[in-house]
Amino acid sequence: MRMVDLIEKKRDGMELSSNEISFVVDGYTKGEIPDYQMSAFTMAVFFSGMTKQEQADFTMAMVQSGDTIDLSGIEGVKVDKHSTGGVGDTTTLVLAPLVASVGVPVAKMSGRGLGHTGGTIDKLESVSGFHVEITNDDFIRLVNQNKVAVIGQSGNLTPADKKLYALRDVTATVNSIPLIASSIMSKKIAAGADAIVLDVKTGAGAFMKDLNDAKELAKTMVDIGNNVGRNTMAIISDMSQPLGFAIGNALEVKEAIDTLKGEGPADLQELCLVLGSQMVLLGKKANSIEEARSLLEESIKNGKALESFKTFLSSQGGDASVVDSPEKLPKAKYQFEFEAESDGYVSEIIADSIGTAAMLLGAGRATKESTIDLAVGLVLRKKMGDKVSKGDSLVTIHSNFEDVAEIKKKLSESISISSNPVKPPTLIIDKIS
Ligand code: URA
Ligand code: CA
Repeated sequence: MRMVDLIEKKRDGMELSSNEISFVVDGYTKGEIPDYQMSAFTMAVFFSGMTKQEQADFTMAMVQSGDTIDLSGIEGVKVDKHSTGGVGDTTTLVLAPLVASVGVPVAKMSGRGLGHTGGTIDKLESVSGFHVEITNDDFIRLVNQNKVAVIGQSGNLTPADKKLYALRDVTATVNSIPLIASSIMSKKIAAGADAIVLDVKTGAGAFMKDLNDAKELAKTMVDIGNNVGRNTMAIISDMSQPLGFAIGNALEVKEAIDTLKGEGPADLQELCLVLGSQMVLLGKKANSIEEARSLLEESIKNGKALESFKTFLSSQGGDASVVDSPEKLPKAKYQFEFEAESDGYVSEIIADSIGTAAMLLGAGRATKESTIDLAVGLVLRKKMGDKVSKGDSLVTIHSNFEDVAEIKKKLSESISISSNPVKPPTLIIDKIS
């Protein structure tokens, strides 16, 4: 086989066989296929697309390019959730203990990563003592015992994707739905998921800003999952404004605790119940979506969800007393209010721009080397559609420095107030299964 022939075949819109796809992925991972040929190949995919079979083969070839996590020692259907990313998305912190509390095993491998705030692990590390440096055996044991554990990313997972993503980043080929879908799905499958619930975000703060693109990405990922024997479904949800109120690490842990008590922001609570019910259904702990939802609602009401969070934290060294005393979480030195300059209705809270403001405070990492400040961030006081009067606080800024002029400038660019009433965006836009 010659790479040049396969590039030509893809360029001309023909379908590659399983063997041909493996040749491309293996060859590139091993360094036998040079970057310039892989660049031409990804550009050919960008324009010609991939068939369902090619997408499934491409995904599995990336899964097989490195280690895979063996979760067979865990009883039950291991359901993973993946969100395509957003601003202040606190769902993982809520969902892990919540679905675990009704018996669905959550074996989460998580990273730190770059972004407006830290990743799930960074957020959890605002609980004093909590750590993810546990052995694989302990990980499996904890999931069997508590139904939930989080371990840091380890091993050589999907090296093909790592290399390819970096190449796509500099060859203008990130934005190809088959390549995005196979990239995301390969990582979930390598991490051991039996079933996958996807939360595909759309709107200003999302990777897929356009709704039709979000739907196509969701459909493509669902097809890949189901074609390779992983029960997969997707929810399309709004990320035009940030989810919930808190954007920041310790602030989001506090928000997750509130939500597990049933006292969280309405949108975060609803999205967690919608995604959680799907996880419970795929995890075969309920026979219908209605039954799944009422199990979760019951668990919030009777305190089991909160109990599950405490057990999870303390089993990994964390001080679980923060759940009852959230004032023990890291706290910023200063709090400032960002106020409305006119009367009216909040018409826009541009999520990615708010995310940038949180990052400027130190809540996220700009580069791999940056350190993050777990205490700082933003708490929205108003959401889209809310009526405001001049002088009302729109956002509380939690900062460890005194001069927040730059942050306020960013916030004034992110939030708009209209004199006419505004309808808040629909949170749950679609479901694809
Ligand atoms: N996120 C991923 O993991 N992969 C992509 O290709 C794009 C976004
Ligand atoms: Ca939030």
